[in-house]
Amino acid sequence: MTHMTLNVNGSSHHLDIDADTPLLYALRNQLELNGAKYGCGLGQCGACTVIVDNKPIFSCVTPCSSVQGKEVRTVESLGTADHPSALQKAFIEKQAAQCGYCIAGMLMRAQVLLERNPNPDEQTIIAHMAPNLCRCGTHLRIIDAIRAASGAQHEDQR
Ligand code: FES
Repeated sequence: MTHMTLNVNGSSHHLDIDADTPLLYALRNQLELNGAKYGCGLGQCGACTVIVDNKPIFSCVTPCSSVQGKEVRTVESLGTADHPSALQKAFIEKQAAQCGYCIAGMLMRAQVLLERNPNPDEQTIIAHMAPNLCRCGTHLRIIDAIRAASGAQHEDQR
C-alpha cells in the first residue's frame, strides 16, 4: 500500500492504495464516483474515459501513481440531473443515450474537444470521438449532440 493524494473534481483525496491500482478502480471503489464505467479494461472502448490535466484518458489502464499531482475530472464535475451542463442537455435533447453505458466516457471526451475548440466541424468531432465506442450504435446522435452543444458551451462556463 502507498499513501497517495488524488486531486479529483477540485478536491484532494488521501488514499492508501497500491500504486498500480487503475484510476478507474479508485474512482469507483474508494471515491464512489461511479460515472466512469468498466467496459473492456484494456483501453479499447472508452467507457472509463476521464479527463486528466485537460486530456481524455482511459482510466482503466492508468495507474493511480501516474496521476498524482494532476487534476482529474470525472463526469460528476460537469453537472447534475437538476443542473446539467450545456453538453449534457444536448445529449438529453438529442436522445444520444440508448443503454447509457458509454455516455459518461463520451461526455468527458467531448468536453475536452469543446474546451479546445468551441466550434468543431463534423469531421473534427468524428475524428476526436473515434476512440470511444457505443455498442448500441448511437454514434450519429452523439455527434449531433456535440454539434448542438458547441455553440452553447461558452454560456455554460459561468
Ligand atoms: Fe477502459 Fe474500455 S474500460 S477503455
